[in-house]
Amino acid sequence: MTRIYKNILILTGAGISAESGLATFRSSNGLWNNHKVEDVATIEGFERNPALVHDFYNELKVEVQKAEPNPAHFALTKLQQEYPAEINIVTQNVDTLHEKAGNKNVYHIHGQINQAVCLNCGHVLETWGDVDTETICPQCEVSGMMKPNIVFFGENLLCMDKVEVFLRKCDLFISIGTSGVVYPAAGFVQTAKYYGADTIEFTLDMTANNYLFDKHVLGKAGETLPKYVDELITSLKKNPAE
Ligand code: OAD
Repeated sequence: MTRIYKNILILTGAGISAESGLATFRSSNGLWNNHKVEDVATIEGFERNPALVHDFYNELKVEVQKAEPNPAHFALTKLQQEYPAEINIVTQNVDTLHEKAGNKNVYHIHGQINQAVCLNCGHVLETWGDVDTETICPQCEVSGMMKPNIVFFGENLLCMDKVEVFLRKCDLFISIGTSGVVYPAAGFVQTAKYYGADTIEFTLDMTANNYLFDKHVLGKAGETLPKYVDELITSLKKNPAE
């Protein structure tokens, strides 16, 4: 019999958005394939050639804005609406498909494509328009200091104070569409498990940190996740006393 959970933490990666037409990072046609990571996803790369980095994310922004959520995102909406637990979603994705699907409590630890941060004053500008080396910060009015609000390699993740709390108190940790290669997110499952959570992952291919999960569901999340969410919701009816 499935346990009744009080606190669910969901970690998502690029795989949950694959069925929405957005490339994952490490697949054969992955996002990095045509670009060097050190050029477009490091602070050094940004300092070397900010125009190239802005161009890269401006192009990606157009793709992302066009994308629509898929059944995996909508399954999470259903879970949040119908399962009476605290349910938080921590995403490594810089797209906004969780929000577009109506997901609540979404935390973007790797930043958001539709944001830029001013390196002069810290203001976060929300925009689907282009940002470039001439963009003026609406707060401090300094130009040329905006950086895509994407966490580059070597930078600190966002929202980590909240995530640390979620990891300690969750009793179910669900990982969806992430290869388990990039830390610290790849280590979240270990913390959740240490504090007593059941752990389950949904992925297409076996992940690098798979030994840390109690269960693996291989397949497209758009197909596997809605079924799992239905099982969780059905289990509530089978455990009426809890
Ligand atoms: P990866 O590209 O490393 O991994 C994608 C995972 O999704 C793989 O395990 C695939 O098997 C799985 N997958 C693909 N299609 C799927 C589907 N339809 N259903 C379920 N699973 C599917 O992407 P991430 O793990 O998200 O950081 O990458 C982590 C970070 O690496 C990214 O956030 C990015 C990059 O550096 C930043 O941009 C800051």
